[in-house]
Amino acid sequence: MSVDKDIVCAPDDRLKVECAPIEKIDSKVRSLAKRMLKDMYEAEGCGLAAPQVGELVQLVVIDVDYSGSAGKNPYVLINPKVIAADGPERAFSEGCLSYPGITVEVKRPSHVIVQAQNLDGDLMQYEAQDNLLAVCLQHEIDHLHGVTMVDHLTPGERVAAMRDYQEAVALGARPGETSVE
Ligand code: NI
Repeated sequence: MSVDKDIVCAPDDRLKVECAPIEKIDSKVRSLAKRMLKDMYEAEGCGLAAPQVGELVQLVVIDVDYSGSAGKNPYVLINPKVIAADGPERAFSEGCLSYPGITVEVKRPSHVIVQAQNLDGDLMQYEAQDNLLAVCLQHEIDHLHGVTMVDHLTPGERVAAMRDYQEAVALGARPGETSVE
């Protein structure tokens, strides 16, 4: 399936639910991770959460190193938990494959520690500070709890962002595009 058809775009109730923990890492989970990585690379995103492809389970994929010619360094996080989110808040211009055509300024804690299982079932720990990974971990894990980037905005900012989003969609924005020429 093409990435355009596979990605769930806002507004959609599947982006607003608490996702179920994954109890067994089986072939279904492995093929979901593979499908999500394919979509993420195709859309040139740096992260994707399972509800964004309509699967309401706690799985995210992230690759903050990939930029076309550079090598791939994919992380697959199963049942990720934020152990710490602290440090001074930083504003970052975020995009989301479920909101084609827009970016929004989101403030988040600058330091994060996350624990998650990988596809082998090993418990991994990820720590990031003041970088794209710190932002991406928080953004993607939010998706597993029904929270998207616009939920971090003030009500006024959210109205403006949703107006921009509707305009972008009307102009044909597709997942992975953060502005419409
Ligand atoms: Ni997103």
